[in-house]
Amino acid sequence: MANIIDGKAVSAQVKEDIRQEVEALKKQGISIGLAVVIVGDDPASQVYVKNKEKACEAVGFESFKYALPAETTEEELLALVDKLNNDDRVDGILVQLPLPKHLDDKIIINNIRPDKDVDAFHPVNVGKIMIGDYSFLPCTPAGVMELIRSTGTDVAGKECVVIGRSNIVGKPQAMLLLHQNGTVTITHSKTKDLKEVCARADILVAAVGRAKMVTADYIKEGAVVIDVGMNRDENGKLCGDVDFEDCKEKAGFITPVPGGVGPMTIAMLMKNTLTAGKEHKLGK
Ligand code: GUN
Repeated sequence: MANIIDGKAVSAQVKEDIRQEVEALKKQGISIGLAVVIVGDDPASQVYVKNKEKACEAVGFESFKYALPAETTEEELLALVDKLNNDDRVDGILVQLPLPKHLDDKIIINNIRPDKDVDAFHPVNVGKIMIGDYSFLPCTPAGVMELIRSTGTDVAGKECVVIGRSNIVGKPQAMLLLHQNGTVTITHSKTKDLKEVCARADILVAAVGRAKMVTADYIKEGAVVIDVGMNRDENGKLCGDVDFEDCKEKAGFITPVPGGVGPMTIAMLMKNTLTAGKEHKLGK
């Protein structure tokens, strides 16, 4: 039986460390703020935004929520982004994705000030990640790195395989593993012999969006298996990209879904917001 990586416990520790720093800053009269913008009424997005507000409260940030109607125009959304860019109480800006179809994510993200882009989605921040000179790490990949660290695994020299090449997870994930000197392979839907490639991995990160695709024959005995997936199975139950039941005996460490990567993403968002706040308010 693999060791099950407890994302809730690791994220609780990250948030507790942040809470203590925020408390110390408050004593110096400094408060940190995160603005969260949601457009429309996508139910999953509403849950995510609610969780982000709760996390802000738990660590002691001010949170500013803007819930805009689905028919909001690009001009209106850009005007709000501009207002938040210029609001000194706001250290981080998060525009919840996906946006309604008539709005272009790229245009909106490109207009968020890079030093307030706590998602690290702005091209300036993406470029900084590429060259290893970053203040913000993209939240989900950064959370994955924390979970790997919690297992005591040293990434250096390990075979790391990432399944999925999205801009939000797969690509930055590969970069973060590379920065820690992993030997990294990014796989995708056109990869030949995917199963064999994955089975070489000492560290396997699944971020593909296909329910229970990774079965025991995809993993090496004793591997660290991190599941970024968030899907519904045939019974409508929440599940990852990894077939947990099938893999749990063979893996060395494995994340559950829910309770693995999910809680880490929000903890890392809090960390980025604190980093932004310190840079704005203390100059570091
Ligand atoms: N929608 C799903 N995940 C995310 C995220 O990490 N950031 C934003 N802005 N939207 C999301």
